[in-house]
Amino acid sequence: MTSNLIQAPEGITKYTDRLADPCIMVIFGASGDLTKRLLMPALFNLHCGGLLSSDFAIIGIAFDSLDTESFRKKMTEDIKKFNTRKVFDENQWNEFVQKLYYTQGDFSDPEAYKRLAVLINATEAKLKTGGNTLFYMATPPSVFELVSSNLQSSGVKNSEKGWVRAIFEKPFGHDLKTAVELNRLLLKHWKEEQIYRIDHYLGKETVQNILAFRFANGIFEPLWNKEHIDHIQFSVMETVGVESRGKYYETSGVLRDMIQNHMFQMLSYLCMEPPSSFKPDAIRNQKSELLDAVRIMTPEMVRTHTVRGQYGPGKKWDESPAPGYRQETDVSPTSNTETFACLKLFIDNWRWDGVPIYLRSGKNLWKRGTEIMVQFKNPPDILGRGQSASNTRIPNRLFFHIQPDQGIELRVQGKSPGPTMSTQTINMRFDYSESFESSRGTGYEVLLYNCMIGDATLFSRTDLVETAWRIAQPIFDVWEKEPAGDFPNYPAGGWGPKKTYDLIENDGRNWVEVVSRDVLEKIPLFKDTGKIFLYNLAINLRPDIYAPGDFIIKKGEVGTEMFIISSGSVEVLDDQGKTINTMGDGAFFGELSLLNATPRTASIRATSDCDIFILAKKDFDKVLKTYPEFLDKIKKIAEERYKVKLPTT
Ligand code: BG6
Repeated sequence: MTSNLIQAPEGITKYTDRLADPCIMVIFGASGDLTKRLLMPALFNLHCGGLLSSDFAIIGIAFDSLDTESFRKKMTEDIKKFNTRKVFDENQWNEFVQKLYYTQGDFSDPEAYKRLAVLINATEAKLKTGGNTLFYMATPPSVFELVSSNLQSSGVKNSEKGWVRAIFEKPFGHDLKTAVELNRLLLKHWKEEQIYRIDHYLGKETVQNILAFRFANGIFEPLWNKEHIDHIQFSVMETVGVESRGKYYETSGVLRDMIQNHMFQMLSYLCMEPPSSFKPDAIRNQKSELLDAVRIMTPEMVRTHTVRGQYGPGKKWDESPAPGYRQETDVSPTSNTETFACLKLFIDNWRWDGVPIYLRSGKNLWKRGTEIMVQFKNPPDILGRGQSASNTRIPNRLFFHIQPDQGIELRVQGKSPGPTMSTQTINMRFDYSESFESSRGTGYEVLLYNCMIGDATLFSRTDLVETAWRIAQPIFDVWEKEPAGDFPNYPAGGWGPKKTYDLIENDGRNWVEVVSRDVLEKIPLFKDTGKIFLYNLAINLRPDIYAPGDFIIKKGEVGTEMFIISSGSVEVLDDQGKTINTMGDGAFFGELSLLNATPRTASIRATSDCDIFILAKKDFDKVLKTYPEFLDKIKKIAEERYKVKLPTT
């Protein structure tokens, strides 16, 4: 990789000593969604960042009957909608749009390739591209082979002068067998070093920062192993459902769509051995070794180490109603496709032996967020020794916030102010938006740029693709043979299936949710409580899910926790088990025995799937101590609700 990085305006990391190579980029499928939403905005960003060579042109080819003029016109309309610039500069665009050309063609028609060859030659004659050609397959994988073989037989891809590369969009196969077959077909037409398989997650600044963080800093490497790390969590949560992609999604599911590719790539970055250099193959070799060491599940492990889910009707994050997956367009009403999955993996090598790695991803969840959390082992319980409230140990946690927040955060324990020795979680946080003046990119800038300079680090290799499928294949096999009996098993807008929480809790661990302020602000109790308060509260809340019929608290028990319903409903029961009250979204309960140190006065049972934030007594006390206004607020509500007078503090 090149040095001398400076920050270009509008957020592109600019390599001052290297422009992209002169080249012609041919986009197959140029009239489609990917081109207008991602490729054009990214190429325009590269142009504005001064990273494209002046000898650069784009030739679009697709079935739609457009010509160069109408293609330019269409792109000019689309860019207004999809550009990611802080300020859209018309002059820059007018300059850029002159680099676009179009030729209409059916991908199976040899004549189309002849026309393409004529256009490439004519463009080359105008520019000094030295024969460098980049083919971008913005097409379904089903035509990868067809296009590749036609490019070969027509001679279009056989430039003898410069480099010829091809970028392929996922999915790379449907399972291990088809992936191996696809690779075989591609390798018939391309050399491995010509193939650039895009995984857009690797274009994300914060994903790349995992590498920089691990290998440009000395302090973490000695800790990065089974001696010091208890477990790792990867979460990719989406608030969107399948929208208009039902047809595709029915053949995919989240394990294929997100986990087998994007999440395994992140896993390999986080856990691989240090490479000997930042050269593409040095990194890719280590990634491949790491994925190779992931334990392949037996059918029994699939049953105990994985959870799958499918959303039912519910609500969107903005509270509007959302259909269940089976009610979405182009989805079978009896579909067995999973929209949520959670896996517990092990890496059988010296570094990670015995460290569980939990991964989960899903659609239509309560929040959008991609996070990696590394939990370190507990320190010895010295502070709590000899005290009644023993076990004051709270592990250190390191977070990689990938999106929407971008940054790194280390949560450690510090002394809370005051004469007593008590600790509280504090954090050291690096936030991209505070440290860099970067603006939103598409993630494709870095990928396209790297392909144009011939750096394949961020692209997947044949062996990597196949190893990733090898890990997922036994899971597909069991899931296909044993259809889920409980779909749908989480409501749209919820936290996912309860079994996901059981899976980790059975190991004596918890999901550590990154709860954002806007999620808490939706709960009336926390409205207008202030930024710092909400931040501190958010890092102390433990989320959990209860199924209908589960007792959340039982009368007479001594309370150690209070509960806040994020979504769902509960009933309050009297001594005879009769319902005397019900509560729903935003309500809270269990605070009285925390305020008053008396046993619970009633039992509370979930009547639907309930997503609940739990605030433990020790954190509750800290929150109250630091924020007396919250104590007043909660006491007032409790006094009114229970018709009691609580002691003043
Ligand atoms: C794509 C998946 O690869 O990634 C989509 O096909 C998913 O289903 C998307 O929504 C998520 O990407 P991002 O960048 O929004 O996290």
